[in-house]
Amino acid sequence: MSAATSSGTTGSSPTDPTAPPPLRVEGLSVRYGGVVAVSGVSFGVEPGESVGIIGANGAGKTSTLKAIMGLAPRQAAAIRLGEVDLTRTKARNVVRQGIGYVPEGRHIFGGLTVERNLELGAYSRKWQGDDDESLREVYRLFPVLHQMRERLGGALSGGQQQMLAIGRALMSRPQVLLLDEPSMGLSPKLVGQVLDSLLTLRERGLSVLLVEQNAWLTFEATERCLVMENGEVALEGPVDQLRHDPQVRKIYLGL
Ligand SMILES: Nc1ncnc2c1ncn2[C@@H]1O[C@H](COP(=O)(O)OP(=O)(O)OP(=O)(O)O)[C@@H](O)[C@H]1O
Ligand SMILES: [Mg+2]
Repeated sequence: MSAATSSGTTGSSPTDPTAPPPLRVEGLSVRYGGVVAVSGVSFGVEPGESVGIIGANGAGKTSTLKAIMGLAPRQAAAIRLGEVDLTRTKARNVVRQGIGYVPEGRHIFGGLTVERNLELGAYSRKWQGDDDESLREVYRLFPVLHQMRERLGGALSGGQQQMLAIGRALMSRPQVLLLDEPSMGLSPKLVGQVLDSLLTLRERGLSVLLVEQNAWLTFEATERCLVMENGEVALEGPVDQLRHDPQVRKIYLGL
């Protein structure tokens, strides 16, 4: 992780030996039967960088993340995390190799305590119940989860549940964290909580790939964004540049 370890470095450079490895996706296509969901998409996430993917319903954002995780059929792709080739790696091993995933819809266990939910996130490391350091790190990042550690997951607000889902993914000590629509279904106030969580991750120098329909949130939380349309990357650039793009302003910011 680097974020879930104690280093907490920011501004890591490619020459920094403690920096997380870059994620590279080359020519990714995803097809479900006759439906082409993603077509020839290429991008990277540099160490410590937060990258966003925005796009309308059905643009192929979730399919892109699922394909990286080995949860959707990948075609003609090359996916690498540093030197490790993940092109044909199965989901469980993708997590082991250092990619964390917060799926759309959170999927926390409402009937289990916050702490048990977090412990389950360490399954890929064969949790022995003695890895207090990872838990402490998650609690340092999200103190409210510590306050609520004995509560049931289902008793948390939507924003807190999203924090729990992020915390659970961090328990696998990812080098890169993939998040799918963390703001979905949340009130504006709770979206603010999610943004705070994302900014915390960014300050910690974690590499993040954030998928969102909410362009406002994404532009606050990331440095560089891809705009997906019909399974392809229609536009890509630094957030400061995209904010001023007339098409982006009209279609995605409603300005
Ligand atoms: N399991 C599936 N089987 C068949 N088609 C699918 C499947 N999952 C997604 N699709 C189709 O693939 C396309 C891309 O879907 P995807 O879920 O990746 O888009 P998205 O950008 O995440 O959309 P949203 O913003 O609604 O979450 C859509 O046309 C969708 O209907
Ligand atoms: Mg989606």
